[in-house]
Amino acid sequence: MKKNTKKPLRVAELFAGVGGFRIGLEGYNKKNKDYTTVWNNQWEPATKKQHASETYILRFGAEGHSNIDIAKVPVSEIPHHDLLVGGFPCQDYSVARNLGSADGIVGKKGVLWWEIHRILKEKAKNAPSYLMLENVDRLLKSPASQRGRDFAIIVSSLNDLGYIVEWRVVNAADYGMPQRRKRTFIMGYKKGTSIYKKIIKLKQPFDWLKNKGVTSTAFPIILSEETPESFKITGDLLEISETFNKAHPTDNIFKNCGISINRNVLTLEVKPDYQGKRTMLGDILVDEREVPAEFFVEKKDFKKWKYLKGAKNEERSGKGGFKFFYTEGAMTFPDALDKPSRTIITAEGGITPSRFKHVIKTPSGKLRRLTPIELERLCMFPENHTAGQPDTKRAFFMGNALVVGVIEKLGRSLSKHNV
Ligand SMILES: C[S@@+](CC[C@H](N)C(=O)[O-])C[C@H]1O[C@@H](n2cnc3c(N)ncnc32)[C@H](O)[C@@H]1O
Repeated sequence: MKKNTKKPLRVAELFAGVGGFRIGLEGYNKKNKDYTTVWNNQWEPATKKQHASETYILRFGAEGHSNIDIAKVPVSEIPHHDLLVGGFPCQDYSVARNLGSADGIVGKKGVLWWEIHRILKEKAKNAPSYLMLENVDRLLKSPASQRGRDFAIIVSSLNDLGYIVEWRVVNAADYGMPQRRKRTFIMGYKKGTSIYKKIIKLKQPFDWLKNKGVTSTAFPIILSEETPESFKITGDLLEISETFNKAHPTDNIFKNCGISINRNVLTLEVKPDYQGKRTMLGDILVDEREVPAEFFVEKKDFKKWKYLKGAKNEERSGKGGFKFFYTEGAMTFPDALDKPSRTIITAEGGITPSRFKHVIKTPSGKLRRLTPIELERLCMFPENHTAGQPDTKRAFFMGNALVVGVIEKLGRSLSKHNV
């Protein structure tokens, strides 16, 4: 057998949560030698107690862990790394003119995208070779009043920093994973790296998107269109912020697959091509006898659950007493066991009835919520990875986390292409 002599890519994990990127890239117990996490940052602004950081340290150790607001971390304290990863929130990325800043342009305070940008910019020639970022699928269409503006700012600022940007919206369940979770994955390849050179050499960069690239190797596709749309993003970040897609603000400019090289964008809609094994919600359930009593729906709460899950078409009163009609469709109740689960949200935990929490019917005909281990399985985390924290926090972590299998596939593909 050929020995793997490649040095591992050193990873910095931002917005680390409980380490979904790390597990996906390194494998649990560091099985995958292609990656090694050298630094990570996780700080929860909403609470004093740092639950996710505690779990991260418990599982991976305190070495290289930082638990302060990323905006307060001097870039000089972040060690050299080859791959920067992180799931950053979807916020308002618009910029404004500010004569006090070095390039005369500033983003809104507290917008975490600009922290990623700051790290890359200040690292300059030592900036990481590769980027692997995650965000909600809505990122491509935001804000609703000027669709695509935020993504145009991200793509062009990364291009300006010397990265080719490739993106794909992936629903984990489309590739056999147990949860329907649709996220935008953004890959960056810095000028001078082997992948950058490979892409530049291609006669048709479209081939990279179709079948040669990192995302299409990890997640094979069927093309919905034979020719991608192409356009150039022009102007400085302020112009993009103020004018991008202003003429047709409700058109979706960025499709679910694309690449941008020097601000030349190719983008198209693609469909998943997958014939492998599929895991359903019913496949990940624990034995009913192991489930603690508080997870079962109490008789007294049944009506409330049924109401919240049901269709509504009713008059309601708003602020100041004005009346309006509220309508919404019914949720499948209980959740289907022969399908992948719905997306786990951060409010999945706790006994209070809710429209969005999963409720399943057990073999003995009882209704119950999902346990922390089941939520971990739906995100493909190792069992009891989050043990030691209250159940509602464990559910919160999984609502924030990614489906580890997606990162594992992207990681394997990136490593294969990095030669
Ligand atoms: C979408 S979650 C990412 C979860 C992670 N990928 C995982 O697998 O668990 C974003 C994380 O960023 C953290 N965060 C939010 N604001 C932050 C800040 N200013 N500095 C550092 N971390 C922050 C949140 O606490 C949350 O854990």
